[in-house]
Amino acid sequence: MARRKLPARQLGFQTIAIHGEREHNDTQAHVLPIYQSSTYVFDSVAHGQALWRDEEAGHIYGRLSNPNVQATAGTIAMLEGANLPDRPFGLLAGSGMGAISTVLVALLSAGDTIISQQSLYSATHALMTQIMPRYQVQQVTFNGRHLEELEAALARSPRARLVYIESPANPTMALTDIRGAAERAHAAGALVVVDNTFATPYTQRPLEMGADIIVHSTTKYLTGHGTVVGGAVITRHEDLYHQKLMPALINYGAVAGPMDAWLTGQGLKTFPLRMARHCDNGLAVARFLEKHPAIARVNYPGLESFPQHDLARSQMDAFGGMLSFELKGGYKSGERMMDRVQLCTRAVSLGTVDTLIAHPASMMNFRMSPRDRATMGIGDGLVRMAVGIEDIADILADLEQALIGCG
Ligand SMILES: Cc1ncc(COP(=O)(O)O)c(C=O)c1O
Repeated sequence: MARRKLPARQLGFQTIAIHGEREHNDTQAHVLPIYQSSTYVFDSVAHGQALWRDEEAGHIYGRLSNPNVQATAGTIAMLEGANLPDRPFGLLAGSGMGAISTVLVALLSAGDTIISQQSLYSATHALMTQIMPRYQVQQVTFNGRHLEELEAALARSPRARLVYIESPANPTMALTDIRGAAERAHAAGALVVVDNTFATPYTQRPLEMGADIIVHSTTKYLTGHGTVVGGAVITRHEDLYHQKLMPALINYGAVAGPMDAWLTGQGLKTFPLRMARHCDNGLAVARFLEKHPAIARVNYPGLESFPQHDLARSQMDAFGGMLSFELKGGYKSGERMMDRVQLCTRAVSLGTVDTLIAHPASMMNFRMSPRDRATMGIGDGLVRMAVGIEDIADILADLEQALIGCG
């Protein structure tokens, strides 16, 4: 059975999420089956040769390609490039960190510099500060709020190959001006990588703003149900995809498995619908917390009080379900609130249908020195929420009761 072709016209975002990449399906199954196979059979030597030489489409070995992996990677690429004239290229990795390290391994050599935003996801920070220096790759940081710092870093780093951005950043929600950063990076001959995990292509599509490569933890919103640890790399450059990123992924080996790819593919079908609700609930929770007496500050790009609200409006279509807030009572209040929640789930991760809540200082950022935490804007009373898609009244009622005595 041949691949069913998509209509030639530009498709809407929800339609792409549902129909996306239509991978070859040799059964009549309505839903793409899970091709849980490590290797593929050659009909003859000539067939095998045609596959190896790329003269015929097909699969050879599971680390090189798989129908489920291709379909899901293709759909995420289509979503990131929903408004671009040319469709970007996508790869699926075994985790978000697998995606990020694949990009670094693919594009950096000894002596190169990576210029990254100061405030980054903790494992990305560890990769850049503890592992990459062993391969003589230096990290220089800039404050994402001040592009003149990026300009200065580029000017003093002749071998700056990559500018690495996470916007909004985890867990401070600080934004970087993606258009401005891309202009400066390109003028200096560097490529721009954006971790779009928090924003997702529903609220922000960095390729449209000049970014070269997107990385995702698909563990989060793209899968949506907390069933997979996975990652994705998307680029609009065909040569980078074929010559650097794909070889790095398959030789470095951080590939995704068929079952995980399939689960993410199922999650993608409802991704825009889920995101609409995450955005509504996120804003409602932010507005509730902003008025609460126990809370000193709420970090949510959709609030008018958010210091970078204008930038948020200029580069995001909506503001997502992620937020953080600083409790006036500091560390003790953070612990107290965490122990009191009844509906919200105490867990790291984000982007699942249920609301997750975490206290970075005692949980995911506890290994960082207090100084590093302070540089990243992570106070002792900072609580991070990944607002889910439950009924908003139930989320607010849980927060109300959990905050008693936290002032
Ligand atoms: C912004 C961001 N990037 C990357 C990652 C790493 O993803 P994974 O846990 O799928 O490796 C995470 C994980 O929380 C994240 O929040």
